[in-house]
Amino acid sequence: MPLFAHLTDIHLSAQSASWSTIDDEADDLLRETVDRLNDTADLDFVVITGDVLDVAVPSELARFTALMDKLQAPWHFVPGNHDGFIDPNHPDSFAPQQAVPSIDPRMMDPVPYAQKARWSRQVAAGIQLIGLDSRYADDWAGTIGDEQIAWLRDELETHRDDAVLIAVHHPLHQITPRNSEPYFKNFVADNAEQVTAVLDEHPQVKMVLSGHHHANHIARIGARVHVATASLTGYPCAYRLIRFEPQGDAYRIQISTHSPAEAATLAAGLERARLSPPAQHMDDPQEWVNLIRGQASDLTFEQVL
Ligand SMILES: [Fe+2]
Ligand SMILES: [Fe+2]
Repeated sequence: MPLFAHLTDIHLSAQSASWSTIDDEADDLLRETVDRLNDTADLDFVVITGDVLDVAVPSELARFTALMDKLQAPWHFVPGNHDGFIDPNHPDSFAPQQAVPSIDPRMMDPVPYAQKARWSRQVAAGIQLIGLDSRYADDWAGTIGDEQIAWLRDELETHRDDAVLIAVHHPLHQITPRNSEPYFKNFVADNAEQVTAVLDEHPQVKMVLSGHHHANHIARIGARVHVATASLTGYPCAYRLIRFEPQGDAYRIQISTHSPAEAATLAAGLERARLSPPAQHMDDPQEWVNLIRGQASDLTFEQVL
């Protein structure tokens, strides 16, 4: 039964110094990941939770498309705040609603504008994957607006008898108590509690997959597990393999964490992470390093839910 991969925050960047990713290595890290996934014989699909581009210029899209064309498994994408950009410093950037359907043409339906690019797809018998669009049009924070929440309720009613997985760029749970502070609150959806209250009413929702925080974190919340994964191309350069196996009326969920990066790349990434804006918002940059790397319980997970 289903085995899938979760990758996020690839940030293929036309800038020489991106947010905190290892720009020189980003293409190689995605190429190596695609090769590994192609060698994973029973892989059913891949979930990518946004920020695949960085300043969203055509050259970044071309790099992403060329590398992803090699991936043999089907992949599903929800947009991040870097997948489209309006910035006077980057007049050639795609607008958010232009970039998203260029990354995945299915995102034209219903419309690719911020808060609108949501979808619901069957990924295996009895398993529904729902993608939410947590973008604001003009900010790096995120939310799930009322219209989308109403749509989510309808989808969850329609799929009461299926297991449901949710993919969303901004996490729907706190990863650190700092997420209550200014600046760090922008790393989680600002109405996460409102959304999880809806999920609490629907115990068929087994998993929430997210990115944006660039941190490895796994939390069981009620009947489901929330999985935030670190950036593929910035320290600690992570992706997940997730097995989702029916067991009686429940599901056995097994999560493992992997890295396509070699030691020298990780060392370079560690230095970038220490200098990154969130690390500089902390008294000790090591606090950010520890947070994004995650503890042992953020790297492997096995439970029946
Ligand atoms: Fe990101
Ligand atoms: Fe993001």
